[in-house]
Amino acid sequence: MTANADRGTWSSKMGFILAGAGSAIGLGNIWRFPMITGQYGGAAFVMVYLGSVFLLSLAVLIAELSLGRATQRNPVGMYNALAPGTAWKLFGVLGVLTGWGISSFYSVVAGWTFGYIFKTAAGAFNNLGPDEIASAFTNFISNPVASIGLHAVFMCLTMLILFGGVKEGIERWSKILMPLLFFILIFLVVRSVTLDGAEKGLSFYLLPQWDHLSLRGVAAAIGQAFFSLSIGMGTMITYGSYLSKKENLISSARWVAVLDTSVALLAGLAIMPAIFAFGLDPQIGAGLIFVVLPNVFNEIFLGNLFGTGFFILLAIAAITSLISIVEVPAAYFIDELKMSRKKAVTISGGGAFLAGIPAALNGNFLDWMNIIFGQYSLIIGSLGVSLFVGWKWGTAKVAAELRAGNPNFKSDKTYAFFIRFFAPVCITLLLIFVVAFPGLF
Ligand code: PHE
Repeated sequence: MTANADRGTWSSKMGFILAGAGSAIGLGNIWRFPMITGQYGGAAFVMVYLGSVFLLSLAVLIAELSLGRATQRNPVGMYNALAPGTAWKLFGVLGVLTGWGISSFYSVVAGWTFGYIFKTAAGAFNNLGPDEIASAFTNFISNPVASIGLHAVFMCLTMLILFGGVKEGIERWSKILMPLLFFILIFLVVRSVTLDGAEKGLSFYLLPQWDHLSLRGVAAAIGQAFFSLSIGMGTMITYGSYLSKKENLISSARWVAVLDTSVALLAGLAIMPAIFAFGLDPQIGAGLIFVVLPNVFNEIFLGNLFGTGFFILLAIAAITSLISIVEVPAAYFIDELKMSRKKAVTISGGGAFLAGIPAALNGNFLDWMNIIFGQYSLIIGSLGVSLFVGWKWGTAKVAAELRAGNPNFKSDKTYAFFIRFFAPVCITLLLIFVVAFPGLF
């Protein structure tokens, strides 16, 4: 049923896991997770996050991969193929729009990491104290030429990789670079937890204080789990559409979730102790890692070299995620509007670049885009996927898709419970609460 020769497939299970993990692991883990963990009170938030990854998100991730592989389509095409002529496709349309929404601000933050490669290499933060490092960040992002320019460079790189298509482009890059990031993070964790005064950060991060958790925090934790696993906007539907029938979807999904969560937890462990050790504020927001990490690098032998390596890898992690976001509108254009890959990627990436300009100029706007598209849109999209699989496409069909590539799959009932009841009920209740009590912390 392949609609267009410009689609493609992964070369192996390993290829998919790395590409899937490449999509999942990115700024979401290293920039966004520590930032909102800081904002929503630490360990209790982390617990809800973990529950939401393994109880809710994993079920949705498996659903997205199944839908993608069953139909070999982008999100809109998938809904059209399985429920022609119905309003379900609106969830697909929301996914394509969310692709633009997220890629717009994502590329701006990725541009910052790019800028920090050069700043760190040049020793721009050497001998600066925590406050000076913080104002260096503010000055850096308030320069419109730099932020728009770096955003442009980053988006162009992403488009260049996407021109290469699925195997040569996305897969090859993810394979080489993801493992390296893991090692550098472990090293950072070791340095961070051994800083003087790290204990306060460790207890903030590891000892839950439930009274610090709000409903809004729960929504943020669930939204973060979706963001981090790249679900709720059709990325994993699209990536699943490039999977072969031989693959075991459940074990692939589990691998992606475990790798992604480990990186997020490590990133938190690298950042939280350092925040407190340097007397910084965990609620700082979007600048958190850019303000905290240069202090840690200053405390490390050959810190500039190390810091430069870190920002290079972070930029790469960001690119392997950004390609998966920009790919969603592109796949829609290729499948539904029969465009060439080149044209589709140009429109998808170009559109995201333009949409990102306001976020590059204004931090508040960036925060709003992050909440609207990075949290609420993904929550609504995941609700759509679970309702669709649980109640429309049907749990028998999803089980049959899961059995292709895994003939021994027998957990039909358990999976049906999660995707039909648990996920939709939890997400709906949460949405009702946050709409009913706006601004509650
Ligand atoms: N999961 C990616 C990250 O953590 C971001 C992403 C969100 C990718 C939504 C695809 C879809 O950086």
